[in-house]
Amino acid sequence: MVILETPRLLLRRFTEADAPLIFGLNSDPEVLKYLHEFPLIDKKDAERIIRDVILPQYENDLGRWAVILKETNEFIGWCGLKYRPEMNETDLGYRFKKSSWGKGYGTEAAKHTLQYGFDKLKLKEITGRAHIENIGSLKILEKIGMKFIKEEVVDNCPVKTFVAKPQMSIVNSQ
Ligand SMILES: CC(C)(COP(=O)(O)OP(=O)(O)OC[C@H]1O[C@@H](n2cnc3c(N)ncnc32)[C@H](O)[C@@H]1OP(=O)(O)O)[C@@H](O)C(=O)NCCC(=O)NCCS
Repeated sequence: MVILETPRLLLRRFTEADAPLIFGLNSDPEVLKYLHEFPLIDKKDAERIIRDVILPQYENDLGRWAVILKETNEFIGWCGLKYRPEMNETDLGYRFKKSSWGKGYGTEAAKHTLQYGFDKLKLKEITGRAHIENIGSLKILEKIGMKFIKEEVVDNCPVKTFVAKPQMSIVNSQ
């Protein structure tokens, strides 16, 4: 099921058949460098992530969505919105394969996801966090118009926290 389309990307829901895609993404230590996760070594763990983590998020039209390059139909990563009950907030997140870094896909997916959260889901606030050394991710949060709030430690990681509200302007980059 396609959730949204951007100039170059399609964002669609994952299904259980996508476990090999998640395995490919989450087994690369460079992709996980600033995240609190270990690289997957067992394909069954990717099946478990889809079943126990990703699919349950789809209940309220939220979730992490597979990002597909329209031109080639290639899976390049995921982007999406997740409700974190322990913090009572909706979090913007994204993760892309190394082969797709540096081409503006992260900014493009994040910007349209933020817009979807406000326009379609009518969210009142969206939070974004990135490790203090994760320059690429911090740049995305800034470029899409989110506002830096504070530095804090979340899940044992030093992060910078950003928020966006519906009335804030979302910059007109891809
Ligand atoms: C962080 C990540 C999402 C960036 O995605 P991307 O598609 O490469 O980002 P973009 O191409 O839209 O780049 C956004 C900006 O960051 C810059 N940038 C990207 N990676 C960078 C890096 N490693 N170091 C410095 N700047 C970087 C780009 O040059 C661009 O800035 P510019 O517009 O001024 O040129 C991607 O590297 C990734 O998936 N990393 C692994 C997972 C992860 O860390 N997710 C975020 C968790 S908070």
